[in-house]
Amino acid sequence: MWLHQGELAYMNILITGGAGFIGSHTYVALSEHGYTPIIVDNFANSRDSVIGQLVDITGSAVEIIRGDINDPTVLDQVFSTYAIEGVIHFAAAKAVGESVENPLKYYRNNVGATILLLEKMQEYGIQNLVFSSSCTVYGQPDTLPVTENSPVMKALSPYGNTKQICEEIIEESTRASQQLKSVSLRYFNPIGAHKSAKIGELPLGPPANLVPFLTQSVAGLRGPLQIWGTDYPTSDGTAIRDYIHVCDLAEAHLKALEYLIKQEKSPFYDYFNIGSGEGSSVLQVIQAFEKATGKKVNYEIRERRTGDITSVYASTDKSNKTLDWKAKRSLEESLKDAWAWQEAIL
Ligand code: UD1
Repeated sequence: MWLHQGELAYMNILITGGAGFIGSHTYVALSEHGYTPIIVDNFANSRDSVIGQLVDITGSAVEIIRGDINDPTVLDQVFSTYAIEGVIHFAAAKAVGESVENPLKYYRNNVGATILLLEKMQEYGIQNLVFSSSCTVYGQPDTLPVTENSPVMKALSPYGNTKQICEEIIEESTRASQQLKSVSLRYFNPIGAHKSAKIGELPLGPPANLVPFLTQSVAGLRGPLQIWGTDYPTSDGTAIRDYIHVCDLAEAHLKALEYLIKQEKSPFYDYFNIGSGEGSSVLQVIQAFEKATGKKVNYEIRERRTGDITSVYASTDKSNKTLDWKAKRSLEESLKDAWAWQEAIL
């Protein structure tokens, strides 16, 4: 059950990083469900053309403040201009390799901005926060599917550590506050694109992630896909992940927001896995892509990539029951949409 449309009219929701991959799809989902999303983005890892595409998809003007949420005057500007009901916080740097080379950029940018955001939310009396976390907090779990009760493991990169630290900061500062209500969403591997093929993932430079590399390779923009390791202890030797369509992920943010808005008591904190609940190996992704699109994937086998784990996929029981949310789109549909997006931007 979604909240009734009328209850949400004019409810302003701030999306930090709203021009990015997940942020832009969440913008569309919010808009379709009667909210008024407001974007703050510094376009460090997104393109200006996204804004025009959001206007096309939603048929309405986009409210946007161009600026860095590490700058307190930017947050003052947003919170004093709009009566904000809730914040969905995506803005963060996310390149694992870069975080190893330049950890301070990640701690300053991801952790520093989250602290400032929490301070400003308290200053302006804003209650509801949805935080963009990652399944990376589990490392290689002992048992699969991984539930929210599994222990958080030492992070394998500064990027992963920023997600763990931010979760802790949000939980502790929420519990110490009078009014905050917040949730962390631990995403598994987001892929796919909006059905319109007007928005999708736009990695700058060679993609590190599987699906954008695969689609660029099939499009002839890159060489063959490199499969990082075929000697994992899995049925076909390649590593297993839980791939989730970005539109399913976007809808999870709405459900999380509505869950927070419905909580009568504050402070309040909770956290959820957001995945499809299915594990797929790299070879299974390739097969599903070929089936969904009729295109052949050329690949080469390489050594394992440093820092990769063997297998992770989500138990989604908690998010299914508590948020009344479930991923609806299949792996094949996600890959078909990723390919339609790749063809649209060729
Ligand atoms: C990676 C990050 C993770 C981050 C997530 C964001 C690492 C180690 N982890 O997750 O912290 O939250 O992206 O989306 O970078 N693969 C290939 N060839 C490729 C690319 C990937 O075989 O060219 C394999 C990988 O070895 C892995 C799977 O495909 O088994 C998925 O890789 P990827 O899309 O990079 O995601 P993760 O490594 O799960």
